[in-house]
Amino acid sequence: MNTDITETIRERVRQIEVTPSIPAIFHPLLKLLNSPPDEVNLDEVIKVASYDSAIAAQCLRVASSPLFGQSRPPDSMKAAIISLGLRRVETIVLTCCMGQAFAPSNWVLDPTVFWRHSLGCAMVCRKFSEKIKAHDHEKAYMAGLLHDIGFIVNSMSFGEQFSKAVAAACEQQIPLHEAELQHMGFTHCETGRALGEAWNLSGELIQVIAYHHQPENSETGRGLVALVHLCDLLCRVRGLDYGYYESSKVDLVADPAWEILQKTHRELQDVDLARFTFELDEDVRGIYELVSTIFGSPRKN
Ligand SMILES: [Fe+2]
Ligand SMILES: [Fe+2]
Repeated sequence: MNTDITETIRERVRQIEVTPSIPAIFHPLLKLLNSPPDEVNLDEVIKVASYDSAIAAQCLRVASSPLFGQSRPPDSMKAAIISLGLRRVETIVLTCCMGQAFAPSNWVLDPTVFWRHSLGCAMVCRKFSEKIKAHDHEKAYMAGLLHDIGFIVNSMSFGEQFSKAVAAACEQQIPLHEAELQHMGFTHCETGRALGEAWNLSGELIQVIAYHHQPENSETGRGLVALVHLCDLLCRVRGLDYGYYESSKVDLVADPAWEILQKTHRELQDVDLARFTFELDEDVRGIYELVSTIFGSPRKN
């Protein structure tokens, strides 16, 4: 990457930081996510979830959906939280926080589409990580949630160029990062890396943000980068996409990232592949339903 472009990106990210920075509630929630399930204090969760009326309303709305099969809608936050389960509550709080941090007027991509994809990818990453018995499923979740944060920078700081890239991607049905490269000379991977560094995210998360489209180039933590790469692909072809049709197909096993994963996760060498992909596809369908309940159904360009 040209050093002038890298410096321009860093400068624009510094300007973004003055206005919407990462919400204060984000770090305590990360801690909550990372504590063992039997040590999470339910009252604490209710307190955090009630912190914001939009979050509370969202929890009640999702808990009332037919997805949770309740005979009558929950009438309190406690009832809603018990019905949803801690993980879903954390997911709702997290996405509401992130959604509120960035004013919708600045978005080029539809923010709902962006959060659908990010949240869907986070949940698919956690499922995938559990299936291959990776050591940290919550880290996989965070990596999935944050992998595309560069789109936020592109929307806010490179809006005009990014609009052209999005239009070209929709028209040519090509992956968005290819269109970015053609029209901007850089991608959301570079801008996301700059934002991740400004936010002091961990080195592993920054590797995911920077290399999720080219896991073979990552410097460290290549297994996690490869996992996010595959889950991102899977989401894009199963309706948790960027709001337009991409003419790419997904073949998990033929993807070079699969080979990287096989090297880092021995369990994959003995796995029944047909069964593994079938089950994962089933999981993605369930995740699609949940994400659609939270955000509503997608509208296609
Ligand atoms: Fe991406
Ligand atoms: Fe993505």
